[in-house]
Amino acid sequence: MADHSYDYDVLVIGAGPGGYVAAIRAAQLGLKTACIESRETLGGTCLNVGCIPSKALLHGSELYDHAKSGHMATWGLGGEVTLDLDRMMEEKTKAVNELTGGIEFLFKKNKITWLKGHGAFTDAHTVKVGDDTVTAKDIVIATGSSVTPLPGVEVDNAAKRIVDSTGALDLEEVPEHLVVIGGGVIGLELGSVWRRLGAKVTVVEYLDKLLPGMDEEVRKEAGKIFKKQGMEMKLGTKVTGANVKGKKVTLTLEPAKGGEEETLEATHVLVSIGRRPNTDGLELDRAGLQVDNRGRVEIDHDFKTGVEGIWAIGDVVKGPMLAHKAEDEGIAVAENIAGQTGIVNHDVIPSVVYTAPEIAGVGLTEEEAKEKGISVKVGKFPMMANSRAKANRDTDGFVKVIADAETDRVVGVWMINTLAGTMIAQAAQAMEFGATSEDIAYTCHAHPTHAEAFKEAAMAVQGKPIHI
Ligand code: FAD
Ligand code: NAI
Repeated sequence: MADHSYDYDVLVIGAGPGGYVAAIRAAQLGLKTACIESRETLGGTCLNVGCIPSKALLHGSELYDHAKSGHMATWGLGGEVTLDLDRMMEEKTKAVNELTGGIEFLFKKNKITWLKGHGAFTDAHTVKVGDDTVTAKDIVIATGSSVTPLPGVEVDNAAKRIVDSTGALDLEEVPEHLVVIGGGVIGLELGSVWRRLGAKVTVVEYLDKLLPGMDEEVRKEAGKIFKKQGMEMKLGTKVTGANVKGKKVTLTLEPAKGGEEETLEATHVLVSIGRRPNTDGLELDRAGLQVDNRGRVEIDHDFKTGVEGIWAIGDVVKGPMLAHKAEDEGIAVAENIAGQTGIVNHDVIPSVVYTAPEIAGVGLTEEEAKEKGISVKVGKFPMMANSRAKANRDTDGFVKVIADAETDRVVGVWMINTLAGTMIAQAAQAMEFGATSEDIAYTCHAHPTHAEAFKEAAMAVQGKPIHI
């Protein structure tokens, strides 16, 4: 029921996957809704400078790589394939524009008011946007995150020499030597894009392995595969400074554990050492809100902050910084505001690295399961023994199913293979339904598909795969 003492029932700050989805669901539930967004277009980091443009470039560059790396020649296909980088960038921009425009259409369709500008609290129910002030009964903070800076290595996206992910999505030339600082998701995805397009790529990673947070075996395998593809790795190394002179950047590096300094020359540098929550200029204190020690807005299980009527979701709160996590929280928070029961199962949030092959996981890693004192049974199946992967000449990677040794319930699934990003959905659904490895092993999977490797890995939990 609308409360007419406020301008809106629900005011969402930020129109990324968390905020725009929350606004749409709130409107669907009959609530008068507005959304504040300071960008020129809706869709947040994800649609404008994140998931979508990066996937467009990953797709375009993979086609080129198939030609250049000899994969197409394997199939008797040849001829000169040339790169028109401007055209590739145009196609990426087209995809972004279609999708951001699509959100604007959905806002109109659902009668959501887009308030353009930067939002700042004046009190718990009032937000200032430009010269206007709006009030709402419930306010959802969905302001997302931005790049973590690295002291001594100053990003300048306009100069296109030392860039962050936004700059790396928009380079005007293929770097001669791109040094990627941070061997996480962004570094490997965007590093792959530029390697495929012809750059020499060196990844400098602080830890002794890539992709922290993922299953150890997957991290090791990923390291081997990226090296085989030609990426150079400097693991256990930190960057302490950068000096730009014309087209050359000289980086100073040090072993992570201390030791002798060395230098590394690059034509371009990508800083991708993580992201941090956006709360600057929000004036949270005026609403009575505080942030935790990592700058995140604190929430309870229902996405409520400590202040009645203020909620928060997405990258600005705890949990993985992922678009689908933000979207699901957007739906749940709107349902909670409307008096329904909105739930997100944070134990089952898949994560995917969209390289080739793709890397994906959901649930616990084997190490996490052991740390929690769960005794596990593990089944693994190599893509080398999967008939479709073999037919496609694309046999890197494996699928790994981790089940509770006592109950057989699946607690985690990790995989590397061409279609891992799509296959992981089946694992997430199985886990959401409380599947055992036996349930998966006795589910009929179409032949020949990469997905059969998931079934075989589940069979391997009981020690009875057919094809190895
Ligand atoms: P955001 O998308 O960051 O949106 C927040 C919005 O709020 C922004 O548009 C911002 O302008 C606006 N805003 C902030 N403060 C204010 C204010 N005070 N007033 C008005 N507006 C404000 N995730 C995946 O799941 N899959 C991927 O493939 C993937 N790829 C990525 C690739 C890159 C290069 C990057 C950088 C990120 C990627 N991510 C990916 C992460 C994903 O983009 C984020 O997890 C997701 O966008 C978070 O959604 P959000 O709604 O919380 O915040
Ligand atoms: P990340 O957290 O994935 O990786 C950062 C890496 O940098 C880590 O491996 C870390 O050890 C390393 N590092 C930190 N400080 C360093 C230093 N000084 N020198 C060298 N290495 C250092 O962060 P990233 O790649 O920036 O991505 C940010 C977030 O964006 C991710 O956490 C993810 O949530 C999201 N994202 C998701 C994608 C997807 O789902 N496919 C794609 C891209 C981003």
